[in-house]
Amino acid sequence: MKSAVSRLIHQSSGPSLSRLSRSSTLLGNGRLFSTDTSSGDSKRVEEPFKVEEAETVKMDPPSPDQLLVLGGNGFVGSHVCKEALDRGLSVSSLSRSGRPSVQASWADKVVWHKGNLLEPASLKDAMSKVSAVISCVGGFGTNSQMYKINGTANINAIRVAAEQGVKRFTYISAADFGLVNFLLQGYYEGKRAAEAELLSKFTYGGVIIRPGFIHGTRQVGSLKVPLGLIGSPLEMLLQHAKPLNKLPVLGPLLTPPVSAASVAKVAVRAATDPVFPPGIVDVYGILRYSGQK
Ligand SMILES: NC(=O)c1ccc[n+]([C@@H]2O[C@H](COP(=O)([O-])OP(=O)(O)OC[C@H]3O[C@@H](n4cnc5c(N)ncnc54)[C@H](OP(=O)(O)O)[C@@H]3O)[C@@H](O)[C@H]2O)c1
Repeated sequence: MKSAVSRLIHQSSGPSLSRLSRSSTLLGNGRLFSTDTSSGDSKRVEEPFKVEEAETVKMDPPSPDQLLVLGGNGFVGSHVCKEALDRGLSVSSLSRSGRPSVQASWADKVVWHKGNLLEPASLKDAMSKVSAVISCVGGFGTNSQMYKINGTANINAIRVAAEQGVKRFTYISAADFGLVNFLLQGYYEGKRAAEAELLSKFTYGGVIIRPGFIHGTRQVGSLKVPLGLIGSPLEMLLQHAKPLNKLPVLGPLLTPPVSAASVAKVAVRAATDPVFPPGIVDVYGILRYSGQK
């Protein structure tokens, strides 16, 4: 809708509304005929009331869903791009290397930007005119590298997105793995710091997705690695073992794997559905939401 026009009925010196509804008739000439006898002045023709046109409020039409995928050329990111395109969204991606080398029709439909989340100025153009962002940026290395790429880099992206007026932001984080958290301290501290920033900057539109192991087909150069060969049976086996997940030490290792396609499905929905609840979606949430139509 291009404009909204409302009429404001403004009465300067005429009768009150309660009196109007009680016993008044609007005559053809715009004057008011009142039969109210309470004032003792019956059949009195009162002053006309003014009908003023309120100012026309121009509203931009809602922009079509424009989704920016950070790390759209990675394993999870490419599944996210494909899922979003399948849903008819306009998709762009930002990463350091830009367009991946894969020859695939989905890659031709994505607008590829080059940028580095550790250099916030390089994100501004890609973030402008975008309604939602999904970050699939993360990785491993030394503790300080892991904190930077999982934490600092994503915190930068969340801040720039908030400044640019992005409405929804979904962050692919990671499930707790008990002892593993301790061994990969920088990774988990970075993830949790980015999560905290997201919840503070996107209180109503921030969604954190916490998968455990993600399976699917990972493209490594020209090679396709079918991680689902191990992941799918484990997912079948462990998705019904939720109580075991609460066991100390070993429990978190029994977190069921989820497919990259499921993560992508939930991420795109979380980023585009205005009533998707903000907050954390754990592995069981991913399984539940991805099974929904
Ligand atoms: N795979 C799993 O089993 C698993 C499990 C749980 C959680 N996760 C999380 O899911 C997310 C995606 O994982 P993934 O397996 O898809 O990783 P991936 O294949 O390594 O993809 C990482 C992406 O991040 C981009 N990137 C890295 N550093 C960047 C920077 N400084 N600026 C801009 N882009 C940068 C990479 O592209 P460039 O190199 O071109 O920059 C790439 O597109 C990560 O946050 C990961 O922690 C993964």
